[in-house]
Amino acid sequence: MSTGGRARVLLMHPILDPGPAILAEAAEVVPYPAGKPLDEAGIRQAAEGCVGIVSQLMDPIRETVLSTPGLKCVSNVAVGFDNIDVAAATAHKVMVTNTPGVLDDATSDFAFTLIMAAARRVVEADHFLRSGQFRGWAIDMILGQDIFGATLGIVGMGRIGRGVAHRAKGFNMRVLYYDPQPLPREAEEQLGATRAYLNRLIAESDFISVHTPLTKETQHLISTPQFNAMKPTAILVNTSRGPVVDEAALVEALKARKLAGAGLDVFEREPAVHPGLLSMPNVVLTPHIASATVHTRSEMSAMAARNMATAVRGGRPPNLLNPEVKR
Ligand code: DGY
Repeated sequence: MSTGGRARVLLMHPILDPGPAILAEAAEVVPYPAGKPLDEAGIRQAAEGCVGIVSQLMDPIRETVLSTPGLKCVSNVAVGFDNIDVAAATAHKVMVTNTPGVLDDATSDFAFTLIMAAARRVVEADHFLRSGQFRGWAIDMILGQDIFGATLGIVGMGRIGRGVAHRAKGFNMRVLYYDPQPLPREAEEQLGATRAYLNRLIAESDFISVHTPLTKETQHLISTPQFNAMKPTAILVNTSRGPVVDEAALVEALKARKLAGAGLDVFEREPAVHPGLLSMPNVVLTPHIASATVHTRSEMSAMAARNMATAVRGGRPPNLLNPEVKR
């Protein structure tokens, strides 16, 4: 029920300043009830009477939720939107928005962080030292892989993939990229990046960094055949979505030394992580924090709030994913 005639918006999780103030100016903000399961039935119930939902990547927003009477907009506080059935939203004339652009630099930085941490065994070295095993310098202590001058394979050359290629220039890396959509020639030249078939990229790269959105086509794009074709010294980094990499196959490949290591920020069944990965010292694991800087998360919150505020006021939100709903 709306109080005082104001439109109501369901806020699934707290967001950062200035997001709450932007939302509160446009609507009555209803927080998702604490402890309520994050499933479709729960979200549908909480969304009754709301014109909007400000969601995050762990919220399943599909038919059951999208058919809520009166729902006009779902604003996801993320660039990825595989948690939302956009086709169903369009069928129900519900606008869907995301937060592109503002997290490109933080995420590209973090992909490089994982490349470097895995290549130079930073987490393992930290543990070695803290556990009292550092008893003096040794010529063969914690040897890693060279990054400068190595070959980097970028799977998915969108804004974040290009950001990673940009950073790779500073490391004098040879960059291969795989993407169904080629970059314009000038962009390839500027980034020093060469388009390649996935097979070639996999076989020639020292580091493989994944940046594709999760779709039916990209689910398990990196699986047993790809692991079998990797250099045994290769390192795989994933900061996109967990299911793009077949996690069980990755564990088997690491056990069989088909590749040397991995840096993973995303997982197939978050927050669960394949138990096989947890005991592997050659795998760096982080809890989906690639965009987690103070500035970036605040920008994401503001952008998502502005998208919702515009929709509530009857306008066309700037980051509309299904423009056919709002002609
Ligand atoms: C996204 O935005 O899709 C990231 O995974 C979280 O920032």
